[in-house]
Amino acid sequence: MLNNLNVILLCAGKSSRMGLNLPKVTLAINGTSIVERTLTNIQKLNPKRIIVVVGYKKKLVINKVKQLDYQNIEIVDQKKQLGTGDAIKPALIKLNKNSQVLIMNGDTPFVTPKTLKKALKSFKSNSSDFLITISKLSNPFGYGRIVKDSYKNITKIVEEKNCTPDQRKINEVNSGLYICKSELLKNFIKKIKKNTNNEYYLTDLVEIFSKNNKKITSIIEKDENAFFNINSFEDLIKANQIDNNYFLENCLKKNINIHDPNSLRISTNVKLSSNISIGPNVYIDGNSVIEEGVNIVGNCYINNSVIGSKTLIKPFVSISDSKVGKNCQLGPFSNIRPQTELANNIKIGNFVELKKSIISDNSKIPHLSYIGDTEMGSNVNIGAGTITCNYDGFDKHKTVIEDRVFIGSDTMLVAPIKIEKGATTGAGSVISRNLPKNTLGITRIKEKMIPNWKRKPKVKK
Ligand code: UD1
Ligand code: CA
Repeated sequence: MLNNLNVILLCAGKSSRMGLNLPKVTLAINGTSIVERTLTNIQKLNPKRIIVVVGYKKKLVINKVKQLDYQNIEIVDQKKQLGTGDAIKPALIKLNKNSQVLIMNGDTPFVTPKTLKKALKSFKSNSSDFLITISKLSNPFGYGRIVKDSYKNITKIVEEKNCTPDQRKINEVNSGLYICKSELLKNFIKKIKKNTNNEYYLTDLVEIFSKNNKKITSIIEKDENAFFNINSFEDLIKANQIDNNYFLENCLKKNINIHDPNSLRISTNVKLSSNISIGPNVYIDGNSVIEEGVNIVGNCYINNSVIGSKTLIKPFVSISDSKVGKNCQLGPFSNIRPQTELANNIKIGNFVELKKSIISDNSKIPHLSYIGDTEMGSNVNIGAGTITCNYDGFDKHKTVIEDRVFIGSDTMLVAPIKIEKGATTGAGSVISRNLPKNTLGITRIKEKMIPNWKRKPKVKK
């Protein structure tokens, strides 16, 4: 734990530029809220305390924060939204004496722990009083500009609307992440004056510190997106793209082959191993885990599921809340419904639906079958058109199929039922009693043969 580090995260703003009646920090980028992303990154520094300032629709923000269950988070309330300089005030009372305070805007979700650590290191090694993180942007519009004197000392931050035409050309901007000594912050925050917009700007602190000969230092972030902040709905859409790009960069590092980045949607909590291939139109959601060497050909939906290494998923496969083992082959057109567990080397073919079933090693269900509430042994072969008749209109019943069973095509297995080791069923049978081991079960009307059969001639009208 960094014992003397306190963090203030500003999340109280009205988010008026969003055009939504929601605090922007609760909005999600690829499935994870902005506040969750920021807090997860901050938490990696292991700070003594994180003080989250809430205000506008605070319950919504508090709910998101509480879901994370971090023990070092405290919430404080900014009663009126009077600007970033005012938002700091309710947090001051919580600060540890002689601590370092890292202040961060709540709407910058891409700030990495690496950047935060770099800022802290620089603050300490330069014996700084106040550190500002600066981004160099090709288009600085909307950001506070960093103004320096002729000796290149930072003298103030000027917000977009207050810039002179010359200041507007400055492309070094304030990223919204600052580090300060707690006692200085407490003493100087009072000196910020209300501006003509009836707001207190935290950024005015820079000019105040400069005039009081405090040591202001800075670090420059080269990645233009690292401090991207979300003020409008358009920004939120752009943030999704930025997140996708970061994701794709990571994929390249891990040797993951994404055929069509534009049609891939992967939620933040999904874990991808290395050497994976993912084709077009794939959506992977929830806490899914895709292990090494998996090949997802395309047009697939995978939710909250584990896909074991070297498994091949052919087109049009849907897998939800299930576990697929190693070296399996699924699809095309397979539907793996919740609570299904496939062991290793299993083949599930076209138009096969599985639900709440456990299938052991080397078994095959290659075509046109429904297998539900079933426990299946290893080396089982299920013929085309097999159905486990698990529902009697009131209750669901279990089917047990033991090792090395061979189920003939178009067999109806009327549950509850047990097919013992090595048993066989004849094609087209309706099996409703338990089948002992190594037995053939067959239910068929005896086939008649009528020789010289003449079909009726067509009657002409
Ligand atoms: C701010 C900076 C600007 C900087 C930019 C970087 C100020 C005055 N300006 O502008 O220099 O370039 O961030 O992203 O600080 N908030 C509160 N209470 C309030 C107002 C805001 O908690 O009364 C919170 C918001 O929820 C948000 C953060 O403070 O998370 C920043 O507020 P925002 O209005 O987005 O500031 P910017 O205009 O982007
Ligand atoms: Ca902002």
